[in-house]
Amino acid sequence: MDLFKIKRGAQNGIKKASDIKTLEKLRVKYLGRKSEITGVLRSLKNLPLKERKEIGPEANNLRKDLEKLFIARVDKLKSQKSKPKTELDITRPGKKVSRGHLHPLTKIDEEIRRIFTSMNFSVIEGPEIENEYYNFDALNIPAGHPARDMWDTFWLRGNQQFPISNFQFSNKPQVSKSKSQKLLLRTHTSPMQIRYMEAHNPPFQVIIPGRVFRYEATDASHEINFYNVEGLMVGPNVTLANFKFVVEEFFKKLFGPKVKFRFRPVYFPFVEPGLEADIKFGSEWLEVMGAGMVHRKVFDAVRYNQDQVQGFAFGMGPDRLAMIKYNIPDIRLFYSGDLRFIKQF
Ligand code: FA5
Repeated sequence: MDLFKIKRGAQNGIKKASDIKTLEKLRVKYLGRKSEITGVLRSLKNLPLKERKEIGPEANNLRKDLEKLFIARVDKLKSQKSKPKTELDITRPGKKVSRGHLHPLTKIDEEIRRIFTSMNFSVIEGPEIENEYYNFDALNIPAGHPARDMWDTFWLRGNQQFPISNFQFSNKPQVSKSKSQKLLLRTHTSPMQIRYMEAHNPPFQVIIPGRVFRYEATDASHEINFYNVEGLMVGPNVTLANFKFVVEEFFKKLFGPKVKFRFRPVYFPFVEPGLEADIKFGSEWLEVMGAGMVHRKVFDAVRYNQDQVQGFAFGMGPDRLAMIKYNIPDIRLFYSGDLRFIKQF
């Protein structure tokens, strides 16, 4: 039996053991009942006296030495364990915190609000669930009118009273209480023209940003859920020239003085005359806004005296404005949730 070899093996094992479990296994191997040293000590009685005198103390000493080594290593491992794992290292480079950022549609929304408030417009909001009266009838689009097809509608089941009181702006009695209450997801923000005028007297100028919904096929410039920003300015002397100034100012502030835009005549039942505005996007014109002078029938619906007030209204598509501003070829990217796209802004 080579006690020296046993000693070396045990010493190496103890040194390398990095946890108490491994150490315990080694202790059993070298000092346990079935270990080689125990075997040597047990067999001493069979040896001749001379060898017994030599090997006996040697094996005993080895046993005691190893016991001491095991105890010392256990203590060391225990003290390491109770120390905090990470000590403060002030030279270590900091971890980069990943920052959130705004969606391009949020950015364009903030920009639009900023520009219009700088022109003294107020910003108001309204309900996404509307009723037929505000979305169509009061805007001179009665049931059966072919113009209803211009706005493919998501109708909602039932026609219960929606708590529209949240969106009343004053104590002035609401004119439309007894009107049709069939519910729908608003197809444009124009119903807010009616709600606002029912509750306020001119002069005023407001914008109404918000989400709108249309049941239509999607393509690069059409979504089923997108945004509108309604504009409404009414007073005794508001003219088409005022409209032109405000909208041109807005386009220049949003896109810079070199922006290329044009106005085209178009039909909307709630304006007369009606216009659309296009902005040059690459080599194409992209329609970004419907507008016009508020129709006399709309003033009728809110009981304004048509001979004393006039005004303009517009409804624009911020999604399309964002496409132009950030050079995005397809509107659907905004809603894709694709971080590779969103993180570029
Ligand atoms: C309207 O919705 C009218 N309410 C606008 C208006 C207001 C006219 C006040 C007169 C007076 P139109 O359907 O064209 O109009 O939509 C307005 C704008 O929304 C469009 O110019 C376009 O920029 C944007 N838009 C329309 N449909 C979509 C769509 N499917 N996806 C994304 N943007 C759209």
